[in-house]
Amino acid sequence: MMIQASCWTYLKVCLVLWMVGQLQGRVTAPERLEAPVEKPFTLTCSVSRERGESLRQVRWLDVQNQTLLSYQPGNRDSVSGQHHVELASSPKDTSAITIRRVGFRDEGCYTCIFDLHPTGSKQGQTCLTVTSQVTVDSNKTAVSGKRASLSCSYGLPEKVQQIVWKHTSPQGESTEVASFAKRSDPMIEPPYQGRVWLSASLSDSQLTIQPVAIQDEGCYTCLYDTLAEGPKSSVICLSTYVLPKPQVSYKTITAGVIEANCTSVSRPPAEIVWNVERDNRTMGPPVTTQLPQGDGTTLVISTLTVQSGLLKDVSVKCLVHHKGLESPIAVSMNTKIGTALTILISVTTVAALLVMSLCFCLWKCFLRKEDEARH
Ligand SMILES: *[C@@H]1O[C@H](CO)[C@@H](O)[C@H](O)[C@H]1NC(C)=O
Ligand SMILES: *[C@@H]1O[C@H](CO)[C@@H](O)[C@H](O)[C@H]1NC(C)=O
Ligand SMILES: *[C@@H]1O[C@H](CO)[C@@H](O)[C@H](O)[C@H]1NC(C)=O
Ligand SMILES: *[C@@H]1O[C@H](CO)[C@@H](O)[C@H](O)[C@H]1NC(C)=O
Repeated sequence: MMIQASCWTYLKVCLVLWMVGQLQGRVTAPERLEAPVEKPFTLTCSVSRERGESLRQVRWLDVQNQTLLSYQPGNRDSVSGQHHVELASSPKDTSAITIRRVGFRDEGCYTCIFDLHPTGSKQGQTCLTVTSQVTVDSNKTAVSGKRASLSCSYGLPEKVQQIVWKHTSPQGESTEVASFAKRSDPMIEPPYQGRVWLSASLSDSQLTIQPVAIQDEGCYTCLYDTLAEGPKSSVICLSTYVLPKPQVSYKTITAGVIEANCTSVSRPPAEIVWNVERDNRTMGPPVTTQLPQGDGTTLVISTLTVQSGLLKDVSVKCLVHHKGLESPIAVSMNTKIGTALTILISVTTVAALLVMSLCFCLWKCFLRKEDEARH
């Protein structure tokens, strides 16, 4: 009795093994694959045929076990299936299909079935995990007092539980700024309330700061808490600028010698150069000093010593270069009439002349009319 029972069990095990072998043993397919979202992705299966076996048909089933694509090898016209997939070229006894654009719904297990004659069907399975990366803008700069927008995106909002934005100051201190979780409103941490906003999106997240303060400088991490893949994050750095408003002042230090200062407060420090038109009556190169201010800005003073006669003859300008400016700011220190004033005077003169000639013409015409009327 015992022997019979164990024999029976043995037979059953053999039968199961044989069936599994029949179904799966000869199909090779990768067990798990990761497919990046929004890109095409190709799935491949191959079968090892035995002598005398012929391959009649290949079928692919999707994650819902619905037919995705089927065809008879060597017969292009026999291909039929869903339109978001296409048959890819592959070697003999291998089948490859391409999902044109992978989406969240394509996640799951795919079955490839090879119908062999006369032995029957063999199948393999590949399970697909759809993945995405967090992408950010390139580093940004913002002018203090203005607005800054930082954006982050992740292609699989369906998998996102919440988004958290953190700020890391240049000194390395890290604080949470804002967060947005599924089925709730964006949350702004108390120190940032009133000047920071967060978009209510689990895919494209935008953090807006207005007005930007110098302390907002640093790097921002946007962290997506995802279900299956854990936290995913990316970093974007913000530089804050304070634009210069340069000024020039000067005084006579000894007879015939003038000391001129060009000063600018900015962040980062401005570069000051002097532009002395066609002349070299400066007494040595300018001397520049940088004085860091408590608020993160830097006062730059460039001191130029010139002979006083120079100012009467040529234009002396201080040019302030700054990363946040498209072109340098020029400040003239001359007693000479500036170009703008010259233009203004010229324009006024021309306008006056025009008006006068117009009056003259009208007067002439009027006289002639009167003459004609009299005759
Ligand atoms: C598809 O079929 C397999 C068995 O072949 C089964 O394990 C799986 O649960 C089915 N999937 C769906 C979505 O019906
Ligand atoms: C952004 O800025 C940080 C720090 O300032 C730097 O480490 C990083 O390389 C920058 N990234 C890009 C893309 O410029
Ligand atoms: C120029 O700046 C220096 C300080 O760097 C100061 O001592 C000097 O008085 C200033 N001169 C003028 C003309 O403002
Ligand atoms: C510049 O100054 C030197 C003397 O220091 C003089 O010899 C030279 O001619 C000057 N050049 C110009 C262009 O004025």
